[in-house]
Amino acid sequence: MANQFSSSSSYVTIFFVTLQLLCTYSLFANGCYTSIISFGDSLADTGNLKRLASTPEEHSLHFFYPPYGESFFHMPTGRCSNGRLIIDFIAESIRLPLVHPFVGVKGMRHMMELRRGVNFAVAGATALDSAFHAARGVNNPMTNSSLRVQLGWFKHSLPSLCANVPACRHMIGNSLILMGEIGGNDYNHALIAGKSIDEVKTYVPLVIEAIVSAVNELIRLGAKTLLIPGNLPIGCSPVYLTKYYGSDMADYDNSTGCLIQLNKFSEHHNELLQTKLNEIREIHREVNIIYADYYNAAMQFFRSPNKYGFTNGALKACCGGGGPFNYNSSILCADPSSTVCARPDTYANWDGLHLTEAAYRIIYMSLFRGPYTMPQFNSMCPISMLHEIHGTSSSMWMSRLRVGAIEFFQERNMKSGVNGGSRG
Ligand SMILES: *[C@@H]1O[C@H](CO)[C@@H](O)[C@H](O)[C@H]1NC(C)=O
Ligand SMILES: *[C@@H]1O[C@H](CO)[C@@H](O)[C@H](O)[C@H]1NC(C)=O
Ligand SMILES: *[C@@H]1O[C@H](CO)[C@@H](O)[C@H](O)[C@H]1NC(C)=O
Repeated sequence: MANQFSSSSSYVTIFFVTLQLLCTYSLFANGCYTSIISFGDSLADTGNLKRLASTPEEHSLHFFYPPYGESFFHMPTGRCSNGRLIIDFIAESIRLPLVHPFVGVKGMRHMMELRRGVNFAVAGATALDSAFHAARGVNNPMTNSSLRVQLGWFKHSLPSLCANVPACRHMIGNSLILMGEIGGNDYNHALIAGKSIDEVKTYVPLVIEAIVSAVNELIRLGAKTLLIPGNLPIGCSPVYLTKYYGSDMADYDNSTGCLIQLNKFSEHHNELLQTKLNEIREIHREVNIIYADYYNAAMQFFRSPNKYGFTNGALKACCGGGGPFNYNSSILCADPSSTVCARPDTYANWDGLHLTEAAYRIIYMSLFRGPYTMPQFNSMCPISMLHEIHGTSSSMWMSRLRVGAIEFFQERNMKSGVNGGSRG
């Protein structure tokens, strides 16, 4: 296998190094952001929950064990995937360090590291406080670190991150703030606990209100650029496809195999979120409020998995405990009797609920090299500098190269091997 691919892979490396340099200069070399500040859940957690875990029971969470992290970090980092997350690709592309988890950082010297990026996202976190869910009989099995708790950590850490109020406003204003994805777990935990979709739908305005309130608080503190992702199409998750297995054919979208009602639920959340973001834009015209359309970016590969290299389809988990979607809530990925596929990059789904690095990369590419941010992300950096560096014609050439790279990448994935194997 290695020999067969070595010459093409060195070509790929040169191609991507060149491409990355070009893209970096064309999109971000103007020093738009000096830091990334992130809030959210398992889609963005780079290690907080792992560092929060103190009791033996908490330590047994399956995503703290191999094969989590195997494809890029070669060890579990607390990220809920086989490799990098969207936030990692963003950090790489703006030449900042991978965003450091906030939890467990002690001492001034380590605090300094957080000045170039700090992540408050915690796997399992909800937008609404745990008390809201507890009052409805749903206990969060993983964390009580809701969005409000994460924002509290941020505010308390400010004196270590910046010297005084003007310096803090300056630092926050020069940061790219990632607000989410958050809210998905408010729905997941309730639905998995057995609440009806209609009941959980009543949470949507409250979840959006929690997100809006956090955004407003950050603007008050000086935020100038916030990226706010919507929810993924949850009807395409093995968790739900397994839970509702054997539903009426009419409940499935026949172009994807996803559950229609749950995807409509995600769309409902996303529509309401966008309406509220428009209201914030009206009030704060000087602030860049960017909506990241995770839903439609992901729907590309749910509609045409092969085109994106997912030759094993987009609905079956790479790592899990068997069953039609390789998901079983009593045998999770990394549990002793679970199995993991040989080629995670031929799967969109990693463990039933989270995506593979390959899928996160496609979402990242679609957002930052494609049309799935509104307004389009690269228009947030002064375009005039771009022209100074490269001239208009070479910029046009580079945008073509970017599209070419995506196609190249897909083609490469399609050609490579397909075996799903077991780890035993
Ligand atoms: C969340 O808070 C409740 C009440 O304080 C506590 O009983 C529970 O153990 C906490 N859950 C986690 C995962 O920390
Ligand atoms: C898929 O669904 C659409 C709309 O519900 C329907 O018109 C079409 O006939 C269906 N196609 C197949 C192959 O079932
Ligand atoms: C999950 O695994 C358990 C234990 O092996 C088994 O009894 C159960 O039928 C499985 N569930 C599904 C949905 O496959």
